[in-house]
Amino acid sequence: MSIPDDAALLAAAKKAMQRAYAKYSGFQVGAALLTVRGGLFVGCNVENMSSPLGVCAERNAIAAAVAAEGPAMRVARLAVAAQSQGTPRPCTPCGACRQVILEFGGDATVLYLGDDLALVRTVARELLPQAFAFDPPTRH
Ligand code: THU
Repeated sequence: MSIPDDAALLAAAKKAMQRAYAKYSGFQVGAALLTVRGGLFVGCNVENMSSPLGVCAERNAIAAAVAAEGPAMRVARLAVAAQSQGTPRPCTPCGACRQVILEFGGDATVLYLGDDLALVRTVARELLPQAFAFDPPTRH
């Protein structure tokens, strides 16, 4: 299978967005990511009646990728799409998602629609300057 270009990755994010479980906010989000190995994984937001338990599309896509490829999974490129009431909306990854994307690929390209639905193409580490980090202890 050929490597999806940016338009194809955004199309996959839009398709996942249609499956969002967003009954509380009405804000449907989809994410599609390409791993360094060439795998394509998608996620959508899954809300909950107990609101803090909802999970964003980006983190669900990353969880799917890790479940399929294992802990060494690295994100090469990730696209986000959103809509509300059937209308496309800007959606920059939230702060929590930025931290999680960074964990799996500081060099990952991140694509989303910003103000006026203009396409933004940036890099994960630029999306979250001064991110939290520490040196994990060596395991024996
Ligand atoms: N949401 C995402 O899925 N990704 C983001 O980066 C921002 C917000 C979801 C969470 C919630 O289900 C809805 O959008 C409204 O905040």
